[in-house]
Amino acid sequence: MDKQEQLKNLKEKMLKDQSLPLRKGATQLVFGEGNPDTKIYFLGEAPGYWEDQKGRPFVGQAGQLLEKLLTSIDLKREDVYISNVVRFRPPDNRDPLPEEIAAFTPYVDQEIGIIKPKLIVTLGRFSMGKFLPFAKISQVHGKLQKVFWHGEEILVVPMYHPAAALRNGGVMEAIKEDFLKLTQVLEKVTAIKTEQLSLI
Ligand code: URA
Repeated sequence: MDKQEQLKNLKEKMLKDQSLPLRKGATQLVFGEGNPDTKIYFLGEAPGYWEDQKGRPFVGQAGQLLEKLLTSIDLKREDVYISNVVRFRPPDNRDPLPEEIAAFTPYVDQEIGIIKPKLIVTLGRFSMGKFLPFAKISQVHGKLQKVFWHGEEILVVPMYHPAAALRNGGVMEAIKEDFLKLTQVLEKVTAIKTEQLSLI
């Protein structure tokens, strides 16, 4: 089964899973989208108003900024994969609760398992918390992190959330700089084989 088909099956499983929280208050499920053969997987927080309306991740203001940041490194959203830790919009855009994040976790993990990206870029503290529960975003943003996760070493770059950048000029500068560094990080990551991860 190719990746597209596996992702389609995963989405169907989520659509049927009545145990998932937040479904009642949401318009629709917002599944991940993009190139399943990408090297970079972006993981955000949860759908907002426009994502809930359109059923697509990062299509509101934060999404527009994400697209601009991708353009700054010659990437389009179709080149990468973009997803969220929570797939139904929390009421009034409140922060997702730990138990809500936990309920969606098996699906996020399966999605990552299908895509097998070389690099995971977390957007904001909720997705960063999945891989680096004790990290402080102000200290680690933009820095390549080697994480032992599900029995293997994976590479993660935590970034600020684009919505935070829209609210704060300092965060905007930081996220722009972090994105510009991403090309180099990606070259480094692509050049190394998994068994050489200890060199990082
Ligand atoms: N913020 C997120 O974290 N995800 C989206 O899809 C949109 C806004």
